Amino acid sequence: EEFIAVVPAAGIGSRMAADRPKQYLHIEGKTILEHTVDRLLDLPEITRVVIAISADDPYFSQLTLATDPRITVVNGGAERADSVFAGLAAINNDNAWVLVHDAARPCVRRADLRALITSAVNSDCGAILAAPVRDTMKRGHQQSAQAHISHTVERDNLWHALTPQMFRAGQLRQSLTTALAQGATITDEASALEFCGYTPLLVAGRSDNFKVTQPEDLALAAFYLQLLIK
Ligand code: C5P
Repeated sequence: EEFIAVVPAAGIGSRMAADRPKQYLHIEGKTILEHTVDRLLDLPEITRVVIAISADDPYFSQLTLATDPRITVVNGGAERADSVFAGLAAINNDNAWVLVHDAARPCVRRADLRALITSAVNSDCGAILAAPVRDTMKRGHQQSAQAHISHTVERDNLWHALTPQMFRAGQLRQSLTTALAQGATITDEASALEFCGYTPLLVAGRSDNFKVTQPEDLALAAFYLQLLIK
């Protein structure tokens, strides 16, 4: 089996409100993107990482990653799904397993990557890391510029979709093509497969594999990365 990571890193990170996209902010001596790629390449079975960056990205070429022979760079697109699709275009083995992982999730643990791989290779159509919801969930509605509670959403069996999300390259490419052509809302890879009628597995992962999004997430990521890097 061949295992290839696809890392969408073409976002602008507007919610971080920093001077550069969040994947290029430094934590513990390295950019978030470098931490993320290091986590993936820490597994010997992952032999290649395809990174989708913005066409006018001035930062990537400055990294030592840029000259790593295991890394392929492609231009991403307007939406995350477009960036993932561009990454898949660099993979010609439809049978390869792809692990799509957000550039902005540098704290993913080796044990979770291993659990995901084991579950996916034994599944019908792939698997994703996910974390059970802890809090009580509310559906809101807007009324006079305020959010009111509409109702409480049943919490049983409700999960946060994390990454990596792992599928056969050909099946993911085909599902994304169908879903995008029919205008489906695709916020992760699994949603494309769901749209096509597949039922990927949920693999319980750690909640510290969070997506660095807001300014206050940086200190938390630094804390977890210190634990990981030793
Ligand atoms: O914006 P969000 O945090 O959901 O992005 C998740 C990941 O997708 C980030 O790593 C971001 O760089 C990437 N992305 C992308 N292309 C886009 C938008 C987001 O590669 N057009």
